[in-house]
Amino acid sequence: MYSAKVMDHFMNPRNVGEIPDADGIGEVGNAKCGDIMRIYLDIEGNTIKDVKFKTFGCGAAVATSSMVTEMVKGKTIDEALTITNAAVAEALDGLPANKMHCSNLAADALHEAIKNYKEKEKAKG
Ligand code: FES
Repeated sequence: MYSAKVMDHFMNPRNVGEIPDADGIGEVGNAKCGDIMRIYLDIEGNTIKDVKFKTFGCGAAVATSSMVTEMVKGKTIDEALTITNAAVAEALDGLPANKMHCSNLAADALHEAIKNYKEKEKAKG
């Protein structure tokens, strides 16, 4: 059913929590199940220094969220933007077909958080 990697990230999720005064926050809901995921980014220069997440969702949502935080830490914003939902699922050695929709939360929330950061930067002028 689930790969060992999915089970590992579900049982021991990395980077759970919030970042106070985060530079970017992204929140997305999964239309299929109503679950929600929020990502917090700490960005310095162009690099993602720290990332945390909170997911009100199923095990696959927890695992994909955890994996995406590991994938983006230390990456530049542009590198992070190239991460797709499919890439996250792949990094977990795949998800069962009926759980693929859960993987949509992770990269989408990441992209939203980067968008939020860019908007804030723009507002600063
Ligand atoms: Fe909702 Fe998986 S069932 S994210």
